[in-house]
Amino acid sequence: MFEEGQLYSPVTVGEDGQVEVHLGDNHPGFADQDYRARRSEIAAAALGWKPGETVPRIDYTETENEIWRTVSREIAPLHAKYACRNYIAAVEALNLPTDRVPQLDEVSAGLKGLTGFEYVPAAGIVPLEEFYGSLADGQFHSTQYLRHHAVPLYTPEPDIIHEVIGHGNLLADPQVAEVKRLAGAAARRVQTREALQVVADVFWFTIEFGVLHEDGEIKAYGAGLLSSYGEIEEMREVEIRPLDFAEMATVDYDITHYQPVLFAAESFSHMVDEVGNFFATCDDDTPAKLGVAAKA
Ligand code: TRP
Ligand code: FE
Repeated sequence: MFEEGQLYSPVTVGEDGQVEVHLGDNHPGFADQDYRARRSEIAAAALGWKPGETVPRIDYTETENEIWRTVSREIAPLHAKYACRNYIAAVEALNLPTDRVPQLDEVSAGLKGLTGFEYVPAAGIVPLEEFYGSLADGQFHSTQYLRHHAVPLYTPEPDIIHEVIGHGNLLADPQVAEVKRLAGAAARRVQTREALQVVADVFWFTIEFGVLHEDGEIKAYGAGLLSSYGEIEEMREVEIRPLDFAEMATVDYDITHYQPVLFAAESFSHMVDEVGNFFATCDDDTPAKLGVAAKA
């Protein structure tokens, strides 16, 4: 069960305008004052941004660029082994830097000629409707901070490595970009909380954590697997079920740990057809049709 707001550390703005990011005591950066201050600084930049303005550039520190380099270096051989072919081709097409953190406007510039997706900054929690809904317009809300340097292989909340190495590269693939637009349109179309929850659940098990069969092996197309060199290595060890939207909408999941259950499409084109069709057709009757009306 996906809890809104559970995804990111909460951001508050005090009466004096002071922006603060609150990390849980199980967060790798909880006891690191410098990290917390940096998180608040980066959140403040995003909060100051208004639609239509240029996206704020962050002056990344050497520590932050080093995290990007570490993840890029560690994850490349795992992508070669475990990422689906379309992802590998998309990485080449987008050609992002591996030696420093790219700016969101650079990601947008790269995507412009490929699929037209645009990156906009997110300080923290973006309400479900807005996060998913804006995908219909080709907009992707992205965090700009980096995971804590102590644990580069996995983060319990999405950071710019997840948003860009995971989602950004995938958004360079026209078919994935179209599935994401359809998911956005679905989020806008549905009127009930239950139906929106089903959209979120299916999004979770496909766009975020989807796998597929390719050349007799399990390959990742989900952004959350492709951005974690800890989790992608484990993914073949977990329970793999065939694509099943009713199960996706009923199985419980914890978004802060490695996933124990993944759903595999038969192929990339099977994923595009099935998941695309699901988002294209789902509506307020979908929870009842899937037999999951009681969940949300
Ligand atoms: N675990 C992912 C990573 O290490 C980031 C992440 C945390 C995430 N929570 C998520 C991704 C929820 C997708 C959805 O890169
Ligand atoms: Fe994500």
